Amino acid sequence: MRIGILGTGNVARALAHGWSAAGHDVLLGSRRPGNRTDLGLPVVGLDEAAAHAEVLVNATPGTVSVDLLHSIGASALAGTLLIDVGVGLSDDFTELSHPNSSLGEQIQKAFPSTPVVKTLCTMDSTVMTAPESLAGPSTVFLSGDDDEAKRTTGRLLTDLGWPASSQLDIGGITTARGQEHFALLFMGIAVGLGAHAFNINVVTRPAVP
Ligand SMILES: NC(=O)c1ccc[n+]([C@@H]2O[C@H](COP(=O)([O-])OP(=O)(O)OC[C@H]3O[C@@H](n4cnc5c(N)ncnc54)[C@H](OP(=O)(O)O)[C@@H]3O)[C@@H](O)[C@H]2O)c1
Repeated sequence: MRIGILGTGNVARALAHGWSAAGHDVLLGSRRPGNRTDLGLPVVGLDEAAAHAEVLVNATPGTVSVDLLHSIGASALAGTLLIDVGVGLSDDFTELSHPNSSLGEQIQKAFPSTPVVKTLCTMDSTVMTAPESLAGPSTVFLSGDDDEAKRTTGRLLTDLGWPASSQLDIGGITTARGQEHFALLFMGIAVGLGAHAFNINVVTRPAVP
């Protein structure tokens, strides 16, 4: 697929490498593409990345993502699947920028013609594209109102190494707040472990025969 990724940071680069390796046609979108020529990845402006995309990924700071998407424009984004990996956090990681809501919901509300799927934001960027590097299977969540958009996202997650059995659809876009608010606990676990390379594994009681 043609994938555009907004941002050139840790998440954007990890996803670009992962999906490029799986055979997708990926362009990173930057505010200043001329300053990002050393990434070993194709980098264009934000509008060009969006125009390229059958699937557009938001990997920008959640505090600025909605404004940045507005600068691209609703008509340019209409009909394009938007996978949102962003989380809005204060610089000290203690405050959410969308309390009692979520970035995913705010994007969906601002761009109703653009199906939004929230995923991958409950883990470190190094885990997003290497789930097999952890000691056992773990879980990636999907939130969104459009079932076809979630199916496409699921296939792209499989391409990053997430088998269908590890993908959990938790419901509509309002459930994005659960994924995003986990960031607060994520930071605590990271401090407790002294490491960021971990993930949630949802386990259930075995079915009674
Ligand atoms: N890092 C993780 O492990 C992780 C895990 C889960 C979720 N997330 C979320 O994923 C998103 C990206 O995280 P990241 O770690 O990749 O962030 P990052 O390394 O800081 O990169 C963010 C990118 O966004 C672009 N950007 C656009 N507008 C910006 C602005 N006003 N200020 C700063 N950067 C701006 C920048 O690219 P240009 O300068 O080229 O425009 C920048 O490279 C965030 O919302 C974060 O909360 C990150």
